[in-house]
Amino acid sequence: MLARATYKRGKVKGMSNRQLVQFLIFLGGLFSVFTLWQMQRKSDLIKKLPDHPGKETLVKRCTSCHDVSPILAKKLTREQWDKTILWMQKMQGMPPLDGDEKQVILDYLSRLPGKDANSL
Ligand code: HEC
Repeated sequence: MLARATYKRGKVKGMSNRQLVQFLIFLGGLFSVFTLWQMQRKSDLIKKLPDHPGKETLVKRCTSCHDVSPILAKKLTREQWDKTILWMQKMQGMPPLDGDEKQVILDYLSRLPGKDANSL
């Protein structure tokens, strides 16, 4: 009797438990599709980056917080990229780069041809 009362209280108004479970499964499905879509989009964008030494380092260091779209959207000089990296570190909490990683990334970024994702 007590168990039944608790069970009743746990019910969402206007929705049977079965409907609730179905709804949650539906939400889970939506979420998975969205996550897969995002992963696909992220790797598609990475494929748009020209293959040059340094790409791997850039992808490793610069795509943990955002994908490559803000990077592809900019056409900057080496000094401006240098300042952008400093800004990422000071303002966005980007971890410090090891050894020559910064030079490798700067070499790569300053050779990027396009102004936006479509021109690559
Ligand atoms: C710790 C997280 C983090 C890492 C790592 C990171 N960024 Fe960012 N980045 C951000 C955030 C947050 C923004 C958005 C800031 C805003 O618009 O206020 C941003 C924005 C940008 C922008 C757009 C700036 C603008 O003027 O709109 C560029 C370009 C960029 N990042 C390049 C890089 C590069 C290159 C690297 C690797 C060297 C990098 N980011 C690594 C957090 C990060």
